[in-house]
Amino acid sequence: MNPLDPCTLVIIGATGNLSRVKLMPGLFRLELAGRLPEKMVILSIYRSPFSRAEWQKEIKGMLEAKFPEGLDKEALTRFMNRTRYHGHGNPPDDATSYERLRDTLSDTKIYPSNIVFFLSIRPSDFSNVVDSLAGVGLLKEDKGWRNVVVEKPFGTDLVSSQQLQKALSKHLTEKQTYRIDHYLGKGTVQNIMVLRFANMLLEPIWNHHCIDYVQVMHSETLGVGDRTKFYESTGALRDMIQSHLLQMVALVAMEAPANMDAESLRDEKVKVLKAIRPVAPDDVSSQAFRAQYAKGIIDGKPVPGYKEEPGVAPDSVTETYAALKLYVDNWRWAGVPFYISTGKRLAEGSSAIMIRFKNPPQDLLRTRCGKASPPNWIMLGIQPDDCVKMELQVKVPGLDLATRTMSLDANYKNEDDVDYDAYESLLLDVIADNQSLFLRMDEVEWAWRVVDPIIKDWAADRRPIPQYEAGSKGPKGTYKLFDRPDQFWRYSLEKGGADVEPF
Ligand code: BG6
Repeated sequence: MNPLDPCTLVIIGATGNLSRVKLMPGLFRLELAGRLPEKMVILSIYRSPFSRAEWQKEIKGMLEAKFPEGLDKEALTRFMNRTRYHGHGNPPDDATSYERLRDTLSDTKIYPSNIVFFLSIRPSDFSNVVDSLAGVGLLKEDKGWRNVVVEKPFGTDLVSSQQLQKALSKHLTEKQTYRIDHYLGKGTVQNIMVLRFANMLLEPIWNHHCIDYVQVMHSETLGVGDRTKFYESTGALRDMIQSHLLQMVALVAMEAPANMDAESLRDEKVKVLKAIRPVAPDDVSSQAFRAQYAKGIIDGKPVPGYKEEPGVAPDSVTETYAALKLYVDNWRWAGVPFYISTGKRLAEGSSAIMIRFKNPPQDLLRTRCGKASPPNWIMLGIQPDDCVKMELQVKVPGLDLATRTMSLDANYKNEDDVDYDAYESLLLDVIADNQSLFLRMDEVEWAWRVVDPIIKDWAADRRPIPQYEAGSKGPKGTYKLFDRPDQFWRYSLEKGGADVEPF
């Protein structure tokens, strides 16, 4: 398929938050960049009876909120010309809604017959909507291709993800199913592959012979906001680790794929997820840690604790912080712990992968310098800044043989590089029919297999869970996860960021 084949993008649930904050602004930036196929149409669907003009006004509002610096007039006109609206109730309230949608889309003078349905709706509605689309023949590929995009979470555990898949696969092939993990659309996450597979330098040291441990860490200053209903039944382990963080682990740990095709790439990621040693029920307490934020101060302002958020049960044991120790049992990674953590309402909003190397086999300089040389680190900053850093030991200038840590800081962005949001590259892939950065079902299943034993154990234990102060670096007690006392969470990519005392 030509990436610029005209297509219709149907956004189901177009007034929701995802559409307002990510999809419409993302599509507009692709418009600005001239990357949308010329005849592409964006059809928004929601219950409210907007006219086309009213809907265009809504979109303008979404774009103005996202780009307060102003909107390029020509691009805005082009964008508006491709936007349409379809008011659509759900059966049984609106029994003919899908027939009407089919009739609307059958006007091929306006709507190209290649169609992407983006389900920007509650996961519990995925299978009903797909059933309904199929029921009126909208998923048949006789006149053009049909792709369906579903957001995470894909299920709430292994069994439910398989049930959901069973329901979707009645009407959709794997090739038509685009399961989003928006982290795969982030430039720096893709840069993990570039760094590893476009350079020869790292490969010989990227293994258990040289690496002591790998840390994958994500922290947010935000709380759960108005998502408490979703979050109460989800928690940090399902929300972040099962998807985004395990994907980062897979990219760090995978072997070089045979080529960059979607299948080759995903085959290699699956092999990593399969090689992750299952956490035995008796090991959950030594390999997993959960906690909840208590009230505290963020950006100088007091914020409530998780249990004080509206809609959270007073005896909730839903974790807003989760940390795990995992092992990838294969030749490359045997014995190397992967420490993974994520939390809301922490001191900083950042994501990074930090890799600590082993000490040299013989510490020759210890006798001359009086102290052991600190180990090397390679660090990949994902956000807020995309960067690659490396820490090495060098001699301090002067007459004595003293060492100091030097940080090689490769902030690889040029001033005129344009930064795109994760959704922009993913939307482009959907319309170009490229699944490389979308999850294949077996990836989803293996990721659930990793976290399921912990989910089960935590669900059965209703005792109050540890608390951490909002605005802090995280809960106390996570250090029990580390294999050795000299291993620790590194919180900062800055030089000296490794000088933290365990607490
Ligand atoms: C989402 C989670 O998938 O990712 C949110 O549901 C989380 O809880 C978000 O805040 C983090 O994404 P980003 O791109 O802001 O790091």
